[in-house]
Amino acid sequence: MLSQLPIIDDPRVLVGRNTADDAAVYQLTEDLALVQTVDFFPPVVDDPYTFGAIAAANAVSDVYAMGGRPVTALNIVCFPKEGLERQALVDILRGGADKAAEAGFIIVGGHTIDDPEPKYGLAVTGLIHPGKIVTNAAARPGDSLILTKPLGIGILTTAMKADKLGPEGARKAMGVMTQLNNVSSQVMVQAGVKAATDVTGFGLLGHLHEMTEASGVGAEVYASRVPVIAEAWAMVREGLVPGGTHANRRALEHVVSWDDGVSDEARLILCDAQTSGGLLMCVPPPGDDEVLESLRRAGVVPVARIGRMVADVQRRLHILP
Ligand code: CO
Ligand code: CO
Repeated sequence: MLSQLPIIDDPRVLVGRNTADDAAVYQLTEDLALVQTVDFFPPVVDDPYTFGAIAAANAVSDVYAMGGRPVTALNIVCFPKEGLERQALVDILRGGADKAAEAGFIIVGGHTIDDPEPKYGLAVTGLIHPGKIVTNAAARPGDSLILTKPLGIGILTTAMKADKLGPEGARKAMGVMTQLNNVSSQVMVQAGVKAATDVTGFGLLGHLHEMTEASGVGAEVYASRVPVIAEAWAMVREGLVPGGTHANRRALEHVVSWDDGVSDEARLILCDAQTSGGLLMCVPPPGDDEVLESLRRAGVVPVARIGRMVADVQRRLHILP
């Protein structure tokens, strides 16, 4: 659809629409550029405050995925004039504001419209050095793939809505979604990583596929090395899988070659639509060991090396047990 819009040919647009990257980057001066991104969605959890915090962590994640430092943001709010308690909106906004404060950026304004279905999110602006942009187009064959958060969020939030998930699984899912990618991003930037993205609605394999396309490489992923929130396995066996996850899997069938040893459950989890997922970094060895160790030392757990980029682009993604 974006191809039907006018082409951007301004040299100050360092990252625009054409690479399906996480955020746009616009150069201001020789050593300073703006990073801009926007994300908003309907509640993924019942508690308004937690929803606000998740939406903010998710929105700012695209700045972190580019290696940027968020500075300001604007709230985007859809909320019904009638039928819902006003206090819920206050709590959503408080959740967002507290998360912004934790991340060190300021919500300087916003806009609200009347909508029967509530939605919340942020347009976030960050800063970055034009020479240090981490994009999804800079992966090279041989790079190790490092993932900084466990999968299973789409399945677990679907199970929550169906009242099938116990308190422990719900606590874990909310913990993962409200966790900022700030520390992971700092480690990534300090290590000089060139290629990364964050894992959100298209799932691990969907976002990995975007990276392989943008970078002109293929990828190998070892399913058993991918961290998963444990409770997600039982839920996926019960069929508590969101429509988006099935759609992701269908959309990827023509580019994925699944090894026979990869279970149906694992295939769904690898395609599971995440909200506020982790960073997926491409790190050339031998520096990958150091990055893993730095992430662990900084408290990013579970973090894992889940596979590597390869030169073979016949089938973009090869998934092994
Ligand atoms: Co993103
Ligand atoms: Co986004």
